[in-house]
Amino acid sequence: MPLDDVRVSVLDRAFMFGDAVYEVIRVYSGRAFLRGPHMDRLRRSLKEIRINADVDRIDARMGETLSRSGVAEGMVYIQVTRGAAPRRHQFPDPPVPPNELIYIEPLDGDPYDHLRENGASLLTVPDFRWGRCDIKSVNLLANCMAAQQAKAAGCLEALLIAEDGTVTEGSHTSAFGVKDGKVIASPLDERILPGITRALMLELCRRAGVEVVQHRMQQSDLTQIDELFLTGTTSEVLPVTKVDDKPIGTGRPGPVTARLYEAYHAHLQDWLKESD
Ligand code: PDD
Repeated sequence: MPLDDVRVSVLDRAFMFGDAVYEVIRVYSGRAFLRGPHMDRLRRSLKEIRINADVDRIDARMGETLSRSGVAEGMVYIQVTRGAAPRRHQFPDPPVPPNELIYIEPLDGDPYDHLRENGASLLTVPDFRWGRCDIKSVNLLANCMAAQQAKAAGCLEALLIAEDGTVTEGSHTSAFGVKDGKVIASPLDERILPGITRALMLELCRRAGVEVVQHRMQQSDLTQIDELFLTGTTSEVLPVTKVDDKPIGTGRPGPVTARLYEAYHAHLQDWLKESD
């Protein structure tokens, strides 16, 4: 149905408590990219917060929605909430049916096109999110506040810094460093989202023979590294040239980031050919 006609109860627990999980999947040439890994992460998020929904059915429904939409370039948004029930903090007992939303948003070209050549500027912002950032929950207030703070400072994205000085991730992206030709990736833990593009990046590094070091970068490392880049479903692989107005490395997009961006697109082209 048209998105404007969708109705959700004000008692839905996503509205009342942010009690829901979601996925954003990139659509290229009418196909959902990295569909399997996104569905696996959705399954895991649902399990972690104990919502019982059938992800295989959601996956099939997503396929139908996508083909009916006729959208070639865009994004799929999926949200599963715990459902509508009288407002009590405890989960409804017995459980109520989860609400599922799937919609497609068309994209007009690459939204980051203008930044690919010169790189993005970031603003460091304290990471005051909750302790389970590995769950892709719709509770994104801290992320929204950080993104807005970055925007107000004329930056593309916020780089979140934990209390102990660790660089965790962006407000809606994963962050990687590069030092002496090696990629520095944050190890997965409860402080970051297990990004689907992050996982693809690690695989592409492996195939390209680029060494990856799993290391929690500190804010102080930002003056020492050669390159910094972000990954995400919409940003793909994006070079960062400035953080808090200070240059990263030479202040120009670096060769390792460029190589990985190319590897991403080569992989995408192979996948598009394969699924033809
Ligand atoms: N954001 N970290 C956070 C906090 C994110 O919200 C996202 C994705 C990522 C990158 O993950 P992936 O490679 O799976 O897209 C990392 C989505 C796109 C969003 O909220 O719109």
